Amino acid sequence: MSLNNTSLSDGYGRVIQNLRISITDRCNLRCVYCMPESPDWMAHPEILSYEELYRLVHVFVELGVSKVRITGGEPTLRRNMVDFVSTISKTKGLNNVGVTTNGLLLNTLAKPLYDGGLRKLNVSLDTLKRERFKSLTRRDSLDRVLQGLEAAKKVGFESIKVNCVVIKGMNDDEVVPFIEFGREHGYEVRFIEFMPLDADDVWEKRRVFTQQEMLDVIGPKYPFERVTTADPHAPATRFCFDDTGELFGIIASVSQPFCTKCDRVRLTADGKFRTCLFSTRETDLKTPLRRGATDEELSMIIRESVTGKEPGHFINSDNFEKPTRTMHRIGG
Ligand code: 5AD
Ligand code: SF4
Repeated sequence: MSLNNTSLSDGYGRVIQNLRISITDRCNLRCVYCMPESPDWMAHPEILSYEELYRLVHVFVELGVSKVRITGGEPTLRRNMVDFVSTISKTKGLNNVGVTTNGLLLNTLAKPLYDGGLRKLNVSLDTLKRERFKSLTRRDSLDRVLQGLEAAKKVGFESIKVNCVVIKGMNDDEVVPFIEFGREHGYEVRFIEFMPLDADDVWEKRRVFTQQEMLDVIGPKYPFERVTTADPHAPATRFCFDDTGELFGIIASVSQPFCTKCDRVRLTADGKFRTCLFSTRETDLKTPLRRGATDEELSMIIRESVTGKEPGHFINSDNFEKPTRTMHRIGG
């Protein structure tokens, strides 16, 4: 059976090619900007099975999705995730599969993930200081993340990116140390502006450390030039060091929104389809899936939902409405 294989486009002419799949809301950290101390986890039957996920991925691929990122919560916590990632990595039609992880379990999982065919890894790490790591993540696990990163490097991943959310007054003094950390180990560091997706309302505009502020501290020590990325949809602006030619990036979601170029949609672990990180509406795919919808029917529901993709987020406007789901239940 074949689906109508025309691309998925929204009401603003943007073509969707990039799907982010959250496979669990659980996490072994409790980052303050992402989830509350004691979240209510999704109940097991609520979560899409791997079979259900394969089915949906197939439908999305038919609709033109070619990039998939697997996220959480912490995706490595889900049982048999290595097999899942491996199957997704080998799926025909997908040419770019990545995993975003907090790195805690990479010490044991980096090799099986690599052997299963994964080549792109993003590791979230916001501080290189042990005490600060403890207060940011509410867990004392910095060493494990660092070991995990080392393990990934040894295994030979093609791309290891270190994602660092920068919060003014919290870790903005570590922008240069992170640049040095990336240069030392060959990781591409990507700084992310702090977004209002937290559980405890800690986000405030004045706590956003902007792209410009970051560049102002990096430039004098490590001169760089801006590079035009090959992928026009990539959220990160990339920069290249004058001396080594290596790269770092900044995801300036707040100070320089890139929504007009957005090609992303999201699937939550409980089977809700979201057309924007900041969506206040979501489309239920699980119910039709479990009621036996055909691929055509699922594809119609997805198309219809994409038609209503938001023009962008309104973080910078007075009537910004924060999504009720926090980051760990959406998937980064
Ligand atoms: N602002 C910016 N980035 C966030 N992430 C989680 N919560 C926020 C937030 N409030 C990032 C994580 C990780 C990715 C999944 O999303 O640090 O890198
Ligand atoms: Fe877990 Fe990632 Fe959220 Fe931190 S940002 S609590 S590591 S899902």
